[in-house]
Amino acid sequence: MIDIAMDKFIPVCEPLLAGNELKYVTEAVETGWISSSGKFVTQFEGQFAAYSDCKFGVAVCNGTIALHLALLALGIGKDDEVIIPTFTMIASAFAVCYSGAKPVFVDADKDTWNIDVTKIEEKITPKTKAIMPVHIFGKMCDMDAIKALADKYHLYIIEDAAEAHGALYKGKKAGSFSDIAAFSFFANKNITTGEGGMVITNNKEVYDRARYFKNVCFPLDGPRNYQHDDIGYNYRMSNVVAAIGLAQVEKADDYRAMRIRNHELYKNYLADVPGIIFQSEPEEGCMDVCWMNTIVIDPVKYGHNKDELIAHLKENGIDTRLLFTGMHKQKAMKDFGCDCSGEYPVCEWLTENGFYLPSGSGLKINEIDSICKLIRDFYSRHI
Ligand SMILES: Cc1ncc(COP(=O)(O)O)c(C=O)c1O
Repeated sequence: MIDIAMDKFIPVCEPLLAGNELKYVTEAVETGWISSSGKFVTQFEGQFAAYSDCKFGVAVCNGTIALHLALLALGIGKDDEVIIPTFTMIASAFAVCYSGAKPVFVDADKDTWNIDVTKIEEKITPKTKAIMPVHIFGKMCDMDAIKALADKYHLYIIEDAAEAHGALYKGKKAGSFSDIAAFSFFANKNITTGEGGMVITNNKEVYDRARYFKNVCFPLDGPRNYQHDDIGYNYRMSNVVAAIGLAQVEKADDYRAMRIRNHELYKNYLADVPGIIFQSEPEEGCMDVCWMNTIVIDPVKYGHNKDELIAHLKENGIDTRLLFTGMHKQKAMKDFGCDCSGEYPVCEWLTENGFYLPSGSGLKINEIDSICKLIRDFYSRHI
């Protein structure tokens, strides 16, 4: 194994901009098309939607507002409830709050770490309007089960696919299962624009509503007479940002393969270290896109808890990140009036014992090797 030099720092995730990014951005700047009008916005929307097996895409400033726009496009608001996993990034819950609806929480499944589909039905009430499955770390939720519930109770599905660009469930792409899906292109995502987001849909009416609300409710077809019938938002993505996005989509399959390769290396190198738990393997016909390489530590078997391991990695120049704290534990959610009572043991186990390892698409094999060596050696030290 090759050791990392002591002065080398491995960040948890560096963006990889290895295609036409500079060329397209330069073109946007040189031609003066730097606002939200411009060919890169349209091309990025079209190509990312097509990559995700959807007809329509609406590019916006980030993934959080993509989720808000998705809710607006479906007309979800005051007095409605939306079911979300408690184990998610807070943006999923905040977006529901922005819409005026209430997030309702469901625990995670202990193997997939996605929403536990066996616990959704008990949370459905007459106020429930939608289920928001979140494909955690790039692993698709059990969409068959979610679709069956949505059909039974006439609910919308809004996929929070922020972490799952190009993931597959039984041969179908993330984002293509729902009435509308939201993606993030934050700097650590498999496809990035630094900051950015998109909603995608196959429904023309929903697409039009998303375009309408995104652009301060200017009429889509009428004259720009500055008459506005609804409260709108400026959620537009600039052509400069979309130029980066287009270059990234052109490389989407390469970047996806790199993330999957990273994950396989971590799993191989750590396979025989006791007490290291990974997210479950994808089922037949499914593909996880391994956004972040997350491990959960069993402190009894590993001999150290996750905080000790994180500190050890930090001393050796390895950056890590903690996992999400459950929505039911958030003061903001309690203050908003969400029901935060009940038990969420899987989420709490993940928060308590898990963390991310470096995961960028451009990570080198010898870097993963060295990180795993540190984890392995630290285990041996307690024996
Ligand atoms: C599951 C999930 N939803 C939503 C978001 C929000 O995306 P953004 O940071 O682009 O606003 C993120 C971002 O990391 C996320 O992981």
